[in-house]
Amino acid sequence: MFIIGVMLLYCCYQLELEYVNDDQAVCLDGSLGSYYFQKGYKEGKNKFLIHFEGGDLILGSSEEEYFRNAILKQGTLYGSSLNRALSQDFDGLLSQNQSQNINFYNWNIIYINSCDGTGHQGYRQDAIDYEQKNIYFRGELIIRSIIAEYSTQLQNSEVIILSGCSIGAVAALQWSQYISQIIPNSVSLLCIADSGILIDMQSIDGSELLKQSLKIMNYVVNIESDVPINSCARNYPNQSWKCFYFQNLLNYITKPVFIIQSLYDFGFLQDYLKIECIKDMTLNYCSTIEKDYINYAYTQFQSTIKSKTSSNKKMGSFAPSCISNCLFLNSASFSINWSIPEKSGKTISQTLSKWIEVQQRNQGDEDQLVLIDDVYWPNNQPCAKLASQSIFNRYGNILYFFFIILNF
Ligand SMILES: *[C@@H]1O[C@H](CO)[C@@H](O)[C@H](O)[C@H]1NC(C)=O
Ligand SMILES: *[C@@H]1O[C@H](CO)[C@@H](O)[C@H](O)[C@H]1NC(C)=O
Ligand SMILES: *[C@@H]1O[C@H](CO)[C@@H](O)[C@H](O)[C@H]1NC(C)=O
Repeated sequence: MFIIGVMLLYCCYQLELEYVNDDQAVCLDGSLGSYYFQKGYKEGKNKFLIHFEGGDLILGSSEEEYFRNAILKQGTLYGSSLNRALSQDFDGLLSQNQSQNINFYNWNIIYINSCDGTGHQGYRQDAIDYEQKNIYFRGELIIRSIIAEYSTQLQNSEVIILSGCSIGAVAALQWSQYISQIIPNSVSLLCIADSGILIDMQSIDGSELLKQSLKIMNYVVNIESDVPINSCARNYPNQSWKCFYFQNLLNYITKPVFIIQSLYDFGFLQDYLKIECIKDMTLNYCSTIEKDYINYAYTQFQSTIKSKTSSNKKMGSFAPSCISNCLFLNSASFSINWSIPEKSGKTISQTLSKWIEVQQRNQGDEDQLVLIDDVYWPNNQPCAKLASQSIFNRYGNILYFFFIILNF
């Protein structure tokens, strides 16, 4: 049995589930906040990757609908720690397999589970009592508790990367200010945001689902405590929901940011714009009206990235015309064989490691690493191939592994 145990550990690189220390720091359903952890080793011993999981905001165009959806979320991975596996392994940037993830496999990894429904932030002392159920909003306490637990190690580290996907990417950016205040200047703090661009757009049916949801969220969870990025919140009194839009948020980020973004961000199109025709990661099932709106969103993403990268030389980007979500957590798109342009050798992993190296040298006069695709779907070959081979993996969330231990 001992040998089998060792083999399991060795074979599959599981991260262990840990709970936060602060007993007030709870998920939507009142269970304690949690995260997965790997201790760094060798050259990764003093390097930290803090990853904020995606998992969608609670949506609703009325308060009724908002709380109803919050109750539904309590029963999912993204509303409770009770639904989490005790150990987990991850792909892409978070993989611990050296041959898949040459740059980061041995770093300290803190993978923060999303279970607060409001983007790893917000605070409300009293639970909301809705239809005989309690809903807790304590996202901010979860993050503060985790950072407090590791603060000494973070202060003594060489480099800290805050990464995130989807709403987790917004959280990574928003928390960068707080984390930079607790570490010395000598520690490099960098942000990698995948699929984190929220644009102020109507849904395809003319409703304002994203904006309505952000506004409701703001008065539900951001009255007693503001969004983590205070400098932004101060500029939008009573409207700190505006700090979720990339266009605004980026004005307050002082640390270097690398943007990874599918120009057809599946999560954004489906969840916020309510476009439901994207199946098999293609647009084959979309009507002309839908395609036109999708292409309009595409140009918005493109121009947002162009304007932000051209005004900030420290910013890098990898933004291909893929239909996807979380490219850096997917073993297919993070693979050494997936490069853009095709066969150029320019992979996500290689581009990231170059960018990190440039930021740490910090000379400011080096080539900016910017990739912003200029062709429409499906003319980017690697993107089209990704669709055909894809096991769709939203938020990079994770295949469950079940071990069957045979009795000999
Ligand atoms: C690590 O990745 C390589 C390349 O993808 C693969 O061949 C190998 O089986 C992986 N190792 C483990 C233990 O999963
Ligand atoms: C913000 O909201 C509070 C309470 O609703 C109100 O008293 C205050 O005047 C508002 N401030 C601004 C700048 O609108
Ligand atoms: C990459 O491609 C080469 C040759 O086409 C193949 O041998 C190798 O297994 C591939 N590696 C991965 C990680 O997919």
